[in-house]
Amino acid sequence: MNDLSGKRVLLIVSGGIAAYKALELIRLLRGGGCGVTCVLTDAGKHFVTPLSLQALSESKVYADLFPLTDESEMGHIQLSRSADLVVVAPASADILAKMAAGLADDLASTLLLATDKPVLVAPAMNVRMWQHAATVANMARLSARGIHVVGPDEGAMACNEFGPGRLAEPPAILAAIEALLAPHHDLGLVPARPLAGRHALVTSGPTHEPIDPVRYIANRSSGRQGHAIAASLAGLGARVTLVSGPVSMPDPAGVTVQRVESARQMLEACQAALPADVAVFAAAVADWHVAHAATGKIKKVPGAAPPTLEMVPNPDILATIAAPGPARPRLVIGFAAETENLIANADAKRKRKNADWIIANDVTPETGIMGGEENLVHLITAEGVEDWPRLAKHEVARRLASRIAAALA
Ligand code: CTP
Repeated sequence: MNDLSGKRVLLIVSGGIAAYKALELIRLLRGGGCGVTCVLTDAGKHFVTPLSLQALSESKVYADLFPLTDESEMGHIQLSRSADLVVVAPASADILAKMAAGLADDLASTLLLATDKPVLVAPAMNVRMWQHAATVANMARLSARGIHVVGPDEGAMACNEFGPGRLAEPPAILAAIEALLAPHHDLGLVPARPLAGRHALVTSGPTHEPIDPVRYIANRSSGRQGHAIAASLAGLGARVTLVSGPVSMPDPAGVTVQRVESARQMLEACQAALPADVAVFAAAVADWHVAHAATGKIKKVPGAAPPTLEMVPNPDILATIAAPGPARPRLVIGFAAETENLIANADAKRKRKNADWIIANDVTPETGIMGGEENLVHLITAEGVEDWPRLAKHEVARRLASRIAAALA
């Protein structure tokens, strides 16, 4: 943990059910010796009180634009520059839209327009609001302007929906603040978005292999892990192309999604997406397809034997992209879903497919991993095996994305 003593954060708390988590964030910041000045939006006041922010931050809380114009008060320009970092947590869809548009109709948005300090936003909103084209465009705009983003997390939401949109947990926001306030950032030596300028290719989901126009062969992959990896890489600043088989997951924000059905289409889309600096193959690709898929629906003929399907191998997408050659991404990462001899089989797969790293996971039915929300994985590289604890898939994604950032640094 970095020492935050002597640093000051201007914390803008906007409206949303997650605003209570700002209180925990203030506690963590104060515990690290960081000064905190809070600004509460009108919407934020419905969820936390100025008094609780003031008690925890031990500083005056600002809420109104116009009193600040009094000679006796700190001016809003001065307030916007009084901290080392401006943090918006939670950042509602509304405040993100104001930031993207450059609006300044209340104290928070005015400070965000006036500040010359780095800004970190921790979005929190309903999943549909997060996935809305307007929010996606606003986030892309903010990222392009160098605004730092932490989260959102994926999970069950207060509105009874599931998906990305939950405020990042306070310790994760604290870690992002520490990273931004670390001395190398002051010196401008390390880009705050370590994967900025990098292109990442990610495959996700199952493939559907047609039998006839209405039937196909599929598997139980949900796409959660691959989609979370794409989102985490984008969160670190990478330009991400996500080649996804049929899934019911929403597209991650700020990611270019190519939707495909079959393994052959997935390979084509991956090849079209090259060059890439890193490629992560999280899709559960079918090993075979039907040799001659019927062009019309196969009909039952009373008394006749059921049809026999002739299967032929699919191309191995990972092995094809990882093969030595000028188009090979610098870092190629595969997954190995195994039910026995996990490490040995996965490492053999890494070597056979010429991957640099393999994420090995145990998919025996008792683990509940396949299609579930958590993953128990081992990172296998040429240097050895690292056992990771059982983690939510978005946590696995986060860890992997930071390992990728370190490897490409
Ligand atoms: N993979 C791929 N293309 C395929 C098959 C697999 O890109 N046609 C990738 C997967 O995305 C994963 C890795 O290869 O990253 C391992 O896939 P897995 O299905 O576990 O291995 P297989 O090669 O199919 O081996 P087996 O079924 O014998 O375990």
